Amino acid sequence: MTGLPTPGPHRPVGTSPTGGGSAQENPPPVGEVPTAGRRRGPAGGQVQSVTPNTTDAIARRIAALRVPALPLRRGGVVVAADGAIIEAVGITAAIGSRVAIGPVAAAGEVIGFRDGRALLMGLAALPAIAPGAAVLADPAGSSVAVGDALLGRVIDGLGQPLDGLGPLATTAQVPASPPPLPPHARARVTCALPTGVRAIDGLLSVGVGQRIGIMAGTGVGKSVLLGQITRWAQADVVVVALIGERSREISDFLDTELSGPARHRTVTIAVPASDAMLCRVRGAQRAFAVAEWFRAQGRQVLLILDSLSRVVHGAREVAMARGEPGGARGFPPSALQLVADLAERAGGDRQSGGAITLIATVLAENDDRADPVVDAARGVMDGHILLSRRLAGRGQFPAIDLVSSASRVMFDICDADHLAAAARFRRLIALIEENRDLVLMGAYAPGADPELDQALALQPVLAAFMAQPRAQAAAPDDSIATLKALVAPMETA
Ligand SMILES: Nc1ncnc2c1ncn2[C@@H]1O[C@H](COP(=O)(O)OP(=O)(O)OP(=O)(O)O)[C@@H](O)[C@H]1O
Ligand SMILES: [Mg+2]
Repeated sequence: MTGLPTPGPHRPVGTSPTGGGSAQENPPPVGEVPTAGRRRGPAGGQVQSVTPNTTDAIARRIAALRVPALPLRRGGVVVAADGAIIEAVGITAAIGSRVAIGPVAAAGEVIGFRDGRALLMGLAALPAIAPGAAVLADPAGSSVAVGDALLGRVIDGLGQPLDGLGPLATTAQVPASPPPLPPHARARVTCALPTGVRAIDGLLSVGVGQRIGIMAGTGVGKSVLLGQITRWAQADVVVVALIGERSREISDFLDTELSGPARHRTVTIAVPASDAMLCRVRGAQRAFAVAEWFRAQGRQVLLILDSLSRVVHGAREVAMARGEPGGARGFPPSALQLVADLAERAGGDRQSGGAITLIATVLAENDDRADPVVDAARGVMDGHILLSRRLAGRGQFPAIDLVSSASRVMFDICDADHLAAAARFRRLIALIEENRDLVLMGAYAPGADPELDQALALQPVLAAFMAQPRAQAAAPDDSIATLKALVAPMETA
């Protein structure tokens, strides 16, 4: 038998509350109602009661009507605009939610609330926003599209392709800011990640899963050094986040450093200085989310962020716009917290076997300790490489100031001979630096300090080891062997 079961107890089949029995005479096109729960009435006829199965049947009938589900959109309207902030009423999306603003549905984000109004900030230019412009929540906008299709591509801070190579066939969506790996899921840094840069592989070895800051002023060779590492480093995937740089520099980087085979394993996220401040933060988080997805596939990922300072400057603008009070040296606490939040997302994942090694540039003139971003970065990173304007001025590239640089994981990833050779090399350079003025003035009498004599004799060789032509990769094993050979005479002295 078919038909809608009669609600209520023991109503005989063929009757209805109105006595018409029309439901049974014109049965609807749904499947047979299962017999469970049927009982026989006093007249011997079959009766039914409401059971989960009958509820299912009703649900199937409603579904069969094929009424399209309308998207539930929580909308509001613009009521005020003040500098970078737009205020809207009627929008109930949470902080961090993406919204579409105005007639062109410009991308924006909820960054706070005040007096019952939502505070919005643009993720792109906000043209033609008038009072009363519509604001609609955009639930799809907050996640990050990922997949192997990103390899070789260049995208902007919102995930749109910038390379003119057509749409991206991404395969998954991941959150932009997931919680970091818990401590027990993190793998230790135990093996080296060769970079192809001799001074780094020999003297400041990078470990798989390490976080390193490159501290440097403007124009001392950051981009060239990062380009070398991007091309030569031994990693499965390189994610390059170029944030807050000049547009010309971004295109230069793509045309020169990424013109060769390295492009195919590289995902580039580019947010030029002209893009919205909030986009810098979201662009950096997108880069981490992409790197995390590749790590979850068990791949060794190198994440290059140029520059962390400009990301933090973007976060500072956002925090100040929403009224957060300035903290350390004009930086609201949430802006500096971002340094630790991002750094914590790097590291090795025990479960997948993948890792994210982070190399982030920090703008600093001579390791300026007064700069809050430098201070914050030095606190959370596992190493820092300082580039010196003095060495760059002399034409020594990469202009690494060895004495002021350190890799905190070298003890875990290098053998004893390598460690000893690197320590000796560092000591020679430190001796030369300490006595530079004395020697230049002619106040040092050779023979007074045999170790300094040896350092001065080796100085040209030491400088040659540190310098490296722009287009010439150094085989990591050769770098370490050369280092050991260079300082070997000291052992016998
Ligand atoms: N390895 C190198 N060999 C030769 N010259 C180099 C090398 N690295 C950098 N330079 C020189 O230094 C200049 C500045 O380098 P680069 O653009 O990498 O600096 P930057 O620190 O990224 O600058 P900015 O702060 O403007 O972004 C280059 O144009 C080049 O002339
Ligand atoms: Mg640069």
